Amino acid sequence: MNRVETWFCGSSYWRYVTRRQLLPWLVGGSELGEHVLELGAGPGAATEELRLRARQVTSLEYDHGFAARLSARVSGTNASVIQGDAATLPFPDNTFTSAIAILMLHHLRSSELQDHAFAEVGRVLRPGGVFLAFEIEDGWLNRFGHIRSTFVPVGPATASARLAAAGFSRATVDLWRSGFRIRALR
Ligand SMILES: C[S@@+](CC[C@H](N)C(=O)[O-])C[C@H]1O[C@@H](n2cnc3c(N)ncnc32)[C@H](O)[C@@H]1O
Repeated sequence: MNRVETWFCGSSYWRYVTRRQLLPWLVGGSELGEHVLELGAGPGAATEELRLRARQVTSLEYDHGFAARLSARVSGTNASVIQGDAATLPFPDNTFTSAIAILMLHHLRSSELQDHAFAEVGRVLRPGGVFLAFEIEDGWLNRFGHIRSTFVPVGPATASARLAAAGFSRATVDLWRSGFRIRALR
């Protein structure tokens, strides 16, 4: 991530929007179940809120610094943080009742890696588990915002077919402000 993204994702503004607006909309109508996997937790804007919504939260984060700081912050709670890669998940099959990825997928370096991540999420979800992702569309503003960072947009038009190819069912895409939600069932 570049400096602007790092600042934005750690800001109290983003924490507020995530907890009060984005997460309620993203999760609305879905059952998270007892054990949520959070992919690409970053500074943890969603982690605290997810802790209130599930008995157990496992947050995966690629960046060692983010992972270490978030781990220290949630130590002793019902959340744990693991440093790792969403495209090769370090968990056994059928571990989680739901998985959630906020603004993480476009940080994977290719659409092939994103498809690996979809397949991995499908592998670690229990049958019937829900996968929820929030993403932003391609466009000059989002490309500009990712200078010196990674931006491989997930096209909303192809997301459902890609998830179906990864073994998910009932994949849907819904728009929210300048982004969209992907929802699919294992
Ligand atoms: C834009 S931030 C979003 C962070 C957080 N979800 C939020 O909404 O504030 C994207 C996060 O995904 C993480 N990330 C990037 N590639 C990843 C990967 N392969 N596996 C897991 N996390 C990854 C980044 O380190 C970063 O923390």
